[in-house]
Amino acid sequence: MATNRTFTMIKPDAVANGHIGAILNDITSAGFKIIALKYTRLSEELAGKFYEIHKERPFYKDLVDFMSSGPIVAAILEKDNAVEDFRKLIGATDPTKAEPGTIRNKYAKSIDANAVHGSDSDDNALIEGNFFFNASERF
Ligand code: TYD
Repeated sequence: MATNRTFTMIKPDAVANGHIGAILNDITSAGFKIIALKYTRLSEELAGKFYEIHKERPFYKDLVDFMSSGPIVAAILEKDNAVEDFRKLIGATDPTKAEPGTIRNKYAKSIDANAVHGSDSDDNALIEGNFFFNASERF
């Protein structure tokens, strides 16, 4: 059964380009409620752990370097069918393939700096949310 929560990050490129407010507005306008929210920066070690599943991929080192290169915004979001609906809202991994109107289409410039993260399953949404937030930080 699908849970009603997902996890997102606004990545260093979108933060550096001044898109935090616009992206949060797109997210809440699409019906997602913010359950937890944090402005922080990942160390290389934490970025490496977060993306450990991609450890063997050729882009892993660049991904870890990029994700630890500047501040990010992390959030847990709630909505019916959250994981799938959020993936639709952000669009394809490669922004040149993301549908018009999606967050990556609007704010991302490249596949490696693609503005936002969205969990790809209910299990990962829970794991990733727990990575950033403890129980007293969710509302
Ligand atoms: P992935 O989980 O495949 O995409 P998504 O973020 O859409 O779930 O990949 C994780 C991140 O790794 C992706 O957001 C950006 C980076 N990445 C690259 O830099 N190059 C690539 O070729 C791929 C597939 C991903």
